Amino acid sequence: MVHGGRPLFGELEMPTAKNSILPILAAAVLTRGAVCIRRAPLLQDVETSMQLLAALGCPAVRAGQDLLLSCGGPVGDTVPRPLMAAMRSSIYYLAPMLARAGRARLSFPGGCRLGARPIDIHLEGLRAMGARVSAEGDQLECEAPDGLQGTRFHLRFPSVGATETLMMAAAAARGETVLTGVAREPEIRDLADFLNACGGKVRGAGTSRIIIRGGPLHGCEYTPIPDRITAQTVLCAGAICGGELLLRRTPFEPVRPLADFLAQAGCKVRRLDHDRVSLVSDGRLSALGELSTGVYPSFATDAGPLLAAAMLTADGTTRLRETIFTNRFACSTQFSKMGADLRCQGSVLEIRGVLALRGARMEASDLRGGAALVIAALAAEGESRIGGMEYIRRGYEDIGGMFGALGAVIGCRTQPEREHSTVRYGAICDRMIQE
Ligand code: EPZ
Repeated sequence: MVHGGRPLFGELEMPTAKNSILPILAAAVLTRGAVCIRRAPLLQDVETSMQLLAALGCPAVRAGQDLLLSCGGPVGDTVPRPLMAAMRSSIYYLAPMLARAGRARLSFPGGCRLGARPIDIHLEGLRAMGARVSAEGDQLECEAPDGLQGTRFHLRFPSVGATETLMMAAAAARGETVLTGVAREPEIRDLADFLNACGGKVRGAGTSRIIIRGGPLHGCEYTPIPDRITAQTVLCAGAICGGELLLRRTPFEPVRPLADFLAQAGCKVRRLDHDRVSLVSDGRLSALGELSTGVYPSFATDAGPLLAAAMLTADGTTRLRETIFTNRFACSTQFSKMGADLRCQGSVLEIRGVLALRGARMEASDLRGGAALVIAALAAEGESRIGGMEYIRRGYEDIGGMFGALGAVIGCRTQPEREHSTVRYGAICDRMIQE
């Protein structure tokens, strides 16, 4: 529930990146040793990952803000269907299961309905490394009884998930793998840094060419990077609501494309130092004309709905082209309930700014679209109620608390009791002490 129309003031420290910790938790299955992931956010997708890890025989346990897990024992080869359906990131466990168990049985992953989300590049790359892959309906049977073999492989599209799958497979494969046409997101570099902290040999992450030499991986202690999409969520909210914000744990480069757009719209966005960004806005924005999302380092598809929300009351017309997913703007129908003036033409969302938005009852249907509804509600006059919080909780620990700390009048029904994976904490610690 949001009572909007107030400016936002204050400081926030960004949480650890969802799109970094999720592949890193899967990569931990490749290691034979104790892994400690620092500052693990309380996200639904992290909970789902913990259940998935427990199902594979690599239980993780929370210790304060950290996650402890140890994957020295045998690793399972099957992921229960409900855990595959719960999030797209479940696909990250395919390569580690193949590497550790020699086979993997899983259904196609679920997750936000952003349009078709095939996994053909993941599978094609694994085949190139010697895996046998067959699909019966939505059930996948994969085998690599002789392990995985290093290879040269070019990705036809710089898919983030496929890049991560193939980095994990290559780290456990025999010999050297050269991946070209790979994604260049900061989360790709973070996965490489994690693998290298575990004794891996990954070079070139962040560029279009990654070279990996396979070998044994030990445990490590690792702090993933902060969440650049959460940072862009807060920046877009400050832009449309007006106010003054300081974001800590926020490197500038990953948010530069959005920062440039918000500056063009009339905000003052400053890089204060290596990981602090400030924003000042009077809430009266100029529209941005034509712009589009793209693969990193272009303007991120995940930030598309967030910027669209900020443009709903801008002066003029903004035409935002989405180039990655086919259904990124499902939230646009909900914006209309607040009096926004917009229309979807294929992959282009055309927004004609209106003078003011009014609170409404809305329903989120995906993670970033849901966050965009919150941004618009924060700027709208009156009360808004947003359903579908289960989508928003997949990527934001406590979006109400986050914006409440900046002066917003916002509240969420209490979070459902989280079922923690029941794992004997002592056993994990004992193993960590031994290792
Ligand atoms: C990751 O999804 C992110 N999720 C997404 O964030 C993000 O929007 C996306 O990358 C793009 O940046 C995580 O990191 C957990 P892709 P992913 O594979 O890996 C096509 C969020 O809101 N494709 O780069 O699924 C695919 O259909 C989420 O946090 C194939 O055709 O994205 C899509 O059109 C949403 N075949 C495009 O590539 C494949 O085998 C980008 O997909 C794989 C992908």
